[in-house]
Amino acid sequence: EKGGWPSFMKKEISEEPEAIANTLRGRLVDGRTVIPELEPLEPVFADIDRVVVLACGTAYYAGMLGKYAIEAWARIPVDVELSHEFRYREPVLSERTLVVSVSQSGETMDTLMAVKYASAAGARTLSICNVQGATIPRESDAILYTHAGPEVAVASTKAFVAQATALYLLALKLGESRGLLTPESAEPLIDELTSLPEKLQSVIADSSERIAELAKWSADTQSVLFLGRNVGYPIALEGALKLKELAYIHAEGFAAGELKHGPIALIEPGQLVFVVVPSPRHTGSLHPKVVSNIQEIRARGARVIAIAELGDAAVVSSADEVIRIPLAGPMFEPLLAVAPLHVFGMELAAAKGLDVDQPRNLAKSVTVE
Ligand code: F6R
Repeated sequence: EKGGWPSFMKKEISEEPEAIANTLRGRLVDGRTVIPELEPLEPVFADIDRVVVLACGTAYYAGMLGKYAIEAWARIPVDVELSHEFRYREPVLSERTLVVSVSQSGETMDTLMAVKYASAAGARTLSICNVQGATIPRESDAILYTHAGPEVAVASTKAFVAQATALYLLALKLGESRGLLTPESAEPLIDELTSLPEKLQSVIADSSERIAELAKWSADTQSVLFLGRNVGYPIALEGALKLKELAYIHAEGFAAGELKHGPIALIEPGQLVFVVVPSPRHTGSLHPKVVSNIQEIRARGARVIAIAELGDAAVVSSADEVIRIPLAGPMFEPLLAVAPLHVFGMELAAAKGLDVDQPRNLAKSVTVE
């Protein structure tokens, strides 16, 4: 039930903080992960030499975030693959490969077939899924449920943040299993994770009205670009996908470093560009590089909306508009930056008079290949 909300999507975006909190609930105790569902795979966690994440669409972008976390905290190489591309070549798999499928519905046929293929090739399979008892979890060696609650709107929002949260839990678990994370070294990461819901709540409360105004002004826009780097890159892709599917506007996400390798030629006066800006506080931060990307595109007439940390003064002079997110660790910023982009897609669709819950040509779960 919509319970007074104008759309399921708006309701579900408002539930993003809760989706993270519910996915974490009971799973972090005294600096360690407590995830009984992962027990069937625990004996192999120390041995696996590679992780392959399989997913489509928004779930694929959550998978990209998982790659950053697993590589950083567990030092296992991760490939993230589109399920529908995976089995139509000759992927290299072994019993030391952990295949992690990510699917809200657990019914996506492309992902199901890819998991079956991986299983038959001897890989270990873990399903990250939101719908209890769905087909993909039943085909997997272990299941890590996200607890986002039912997602009704066709466009995925709260499931995305829950999927990323589950992948971060998995990354912590793998880091522990390999002796790389101790309760002491995991503590700051766990603090970051557990403080996300409150921070995200404030992002949604503080930015939604402004984003809705920006969306109204942009209702005639023909094309919107999204830039990000590192963990901001999947967020750029996610922002672009939402705009395509909801508002039927051409949109593209780029890794900001790729700009000068081609896409900057697209920039002409008036081009709307969202930029996910990394915090300047982190060591080795890509902040200066992204700020200089903003300057480059603005010099060519782009209208830039930056999503940047509170207190980041450098973006104020370079961007046209700044949406603020609270301070967070480098791995956690994307889960705060994504909500304004979800709101933007939704509001732009609403401004065009479109049905935000049921975009044309799409179904909530894609059960054909
Ligand atoms: C985008 C969207 C889709 C799904 C994709 C995978 O907003 O909802 O891209 O993320 O079809 O669906 P699941 O997660 O059910 O496998």
